[in-house]
This record gives sequence, structure tokens and C-alpha cells, in this order.
Amino acid sequence: MSKKILVTGAFGQIGSELVPALYKEYGKDNVVAMGHSNISSDSYGIVEKADAKDKDAVLQIIKKYDIGIIYHLVSLLSVIGEKDPKVTWDINVNGLKNILELGVEFGLQIFWPSSIAAFGPTTPRENTPQETILEPTTMYGVTKVTGENLCRYFNLKYNLDVRSVRYPGILSWKTPPSAGTTEYTIAMLYDGVQGRENTCWLSSETMLPMMYVDDAIKATIDIMKATSSEIKIRGSYNLAAISFTAGEWEKALRKNIPNLKVVYKPDERQKIADSWPKSIDDSRAREDWGWKHEYDLTKITRLMVENLRKAQL
Ligand code: SER
Repeated sequence: MSKKILVTGAFGQIGSELVPALYKEYGKDNVVAMGHSNISSDSYGIVEKADAKDKDAVLQIIKKYDIGIIYHLVSLLSVIGEKDPKVTWDINVNGLKNILELGVEFGLQIFWPSSIAAFGPTTPRENTPQETILEPTTMYGVTKVTGENLCRYFNLKYNLDVRSVRYPGILSWKTPPSAGTTEYTIAMLYDGVQGRENTCWLSSETMLPMMYVDDAIKATIDIMKATSSEIKIRGSYNLAAISFTAGEWEKALRKNIPNLKVVYKPDERQKIADSWPKSIDDSRAREDWGWKHEYDLTKITRLMVENLRKAQL
């Protein structure tokens, strides 16, 4: 492999799983992990500290390592987005625009994640179609719709090879729960494994589309490996695996953590969850580039509990 891969947001929820997967696929020396705040170099290879909004800093890294591909994962999530809409716009939109411009300048291939947050209360909530109404009510969602439009525009105008998926809630265990509405799942896992009572911020009936992180990583690498002509959507592809309610998540976790205690106290995050779909039609991703998920609820909860327990020994 001649050109190297740059991952921004390499230490976040998805980055911390994508980077090792890329090491396996392309070799540790071919991947540059870029982080800003929570950098840890344990088990990482090449690491660079930079602010993804700083275009010149990213440009220097592209030149230094002869980068050919960027996975641009830096993003503030839905809950922070409501606390600080201005910074969220700046990081999520201006940061992406910089990367797209650098992509044109250096002829790069770019991956950027959108989200179910691009949808809103006027979107059909069940089996949400690929092409539908995008009227989000969160700043995070606004940045995702804008990002999708920017990606489509840069492809149309400059023929930039940019690819994207709309991730559902990601079920992962390596990083503690952060500022995502869907991460009640991870908070329940951590509290359960660590013997604390969990206060779930959504009602037990709330249903959202979700996906095990290994499936999400596979989709991320697969869409980038597809031939350019297979990628027919240059905004962002719907992507789905399973859907369940918070109550169903609790029940599935309890099979692995018999003492799990959960109380439901919906807060401002309930409104965010209620504006998002319950299930997603991802047939275009399945048809165009062969997307297929693998993990079901039983397997996911077993693996997450086992893995977190092992990691904490
Ligand atoms: N996981 C994200 C959130 O809940 C959605 O993309 O904010």
C-alpha cells in the first residue's frame, strides 16, 4: 500500500474500534491515528495530536505521511449539540468542509459518517426510506444534513470520492458512554457490569435502530473498498441492523447480568429519541455495495458483557 490512511477522531467511540480493524486490514504502519483531547498511545501505532478544525495542521499531516484516504470521524454528538450548538456547528460542519477541500486538493478518498439524527419528527418513523424528509430538531442533526449535502455537492462539483453511511445507535463497550442519546445502552452495560443501579434517560418503550460496533466497522471498511461505480449515493446511505426498545435491551442484558437494576427516568434526551426513526430501510446499501449485518441482540449483549468484564479484570 503506497498511500497511508488518516483517521480523525481516532480515540472516540468508533475510532477506537476502527483503528485496530484498519491495522489488521492494511498494517499498523499504514494508519495515522489523529486525536485532539483524549489521546492515549497504548496499543496505537502512529499517533498525531491535532485539532481537526485546524485546516493547516491537517494539511501538514497529509503531506508528512502521504495520506490517500481519510476516515473523518470527529463529531460532537446529539446531547452536547444541544448544550453548545455553536461549537457543534463549527466542529461538525466547518471541520468537515476543511477535510472535503483538502480531499479535492490532494485527490483523497474520504469517509464521513452521518446518522439517524439527520431525520426528524416529520420523517416516517418505521422502515424509514433512503430518500425522505430531513427536518431534524437537534443541532447535531442539522450538521448531519448539512454534511450530507456538502458531501453530495463536493462529489458533483469536484468528483471527490466521498462515501458515507447514516449510522444507527452504535453498541460498543471499549469507551464509556458519552454524549449520545442512543448510548443509554452503553450506560446500562457499564452500570450493570460495575454493580451500580442504572438510571435510564429514555422510557422503557423507546425503540431505536441500533448496530453492534463490529458490524458498523465492517460497513465502514466495506463501503470504502467498493468500486466507485457501486457507490450510487453520494449523500449518505441508510444503514441498519436491529431495532429494540430500552426495556428489551434491559431484558437481554439481564440474561448476562442477573443482578442488573434499572430505573427509568426520561429526561430531555427522550425528546431527541422521539424525533428519530424506530427502524430503517437500508436496502440501497444492501443492493449497491453488498451490506449485510451479522450480530443479533442475544449475541451482542453476550459479547459486550464478556468483553467489558475481561477488559476490567
Ligand atoms: N449515537 C448518536 C447520538 O445518540 C446518534 O448518531 O447522538
